[in-house]
Amino acid sequence: MLETVVTPALELLPVLGVGMGYRDPLCNDILRCREKIDFLEITADHFLQSPTARWRFLDRLCSKYTLIPHGLNLSLGSAEGVNVEYLNELVELIKYVKPPWWSEHIAFTKAGQIEIGHLSPLPFNQESIAAFCDNVHEVQDRIETPLILENITYNVDLPWNEMEENKFLGELLDRTGCGLLLDVTNLFINSQNHGYDPVEFLKTIPAERIIQLHFVGGMIKEGKWIDNHSQNTQDDIFTLIDSVLQYAPVKGIILERDDNFPPFTALTDELERARNLGRKHKRWA
Ligand SMILES: [Fe+2]
Repeated sequence: MLETVVTPALELLPVLGVGMGYRDPLCNDILRCREKIDFLEITADHFLQSPTARWRFLDRLCSKYTLIPHGLNLSLGSAEGVNVEYLNELVELIKYVKPPWWSEHIAFTKAGQIEIGHLSPLPFNQESIAAFCDNVHEVQDRIETPLILENITYNVDLPWNEMEENKFLGELLDRTGCGLLLDVTNLFINSQNHGYDPVEFLKTIPAERIIQLHFVGGMIKEGKWIDNHSQNTQDDIFTLIDSVLQYAPVKGIILERDDNFPPFTALTDELERARNLGRKHKRWA
């Protein structure tokens, strides 16, 4: 395990419980079912450059729930640096929402000013660690709210890799002082596609860094697992959530369903299942 110093800010973050990603098609159910949802994650990009009415709607969500902004397009892995206009907008949103933490991905979404349109994995090497850390430090200079970083999936082992994924993640967390948003489904998918034991992987990440989880069902397409965020959560993924909660003092879990929505009770049943796993390991009451 890597020697790390956990910043006090991470240890002091509040326990939020179990919630879901806010999605417009689920709006009425989410506003109606407050007692079954402890907190919400909002996709920051869905509120940036939005009309006033959209921000008034944020007020409504904020009046009911703690909101965690989750960015898609800051592109922390871009060697050319972050887009300052985009960062300015993010700063405003986070000031407005006043969350206990916010999150972005260990990925890049643009290169050479070209928008790629999806989260692209970084090579696991020192060059990408250096560029990523420079960007995170620039962002941390603008946003004091703790940033947690999310692991993504990768289809192929890039030829520029110099280290294993867990070493790469550990060094990024260590050098940025950030917490980890552990996407348990992404961990499961990567372990299946790249042939490793996800629990052994988990144990190489400092437990105190794991602040929040994402989960949702994955699916197999053309022989490989993919994370399309549109399936019910498989038992194997709940088993892995159980292992994570046994290992790490997780403060919040978000169901990250984007599409192919089942009846809302099926989603709240998944929240309850995750909540009970947290209770089992005394992560919350
Ligand atoms: Fe995720």
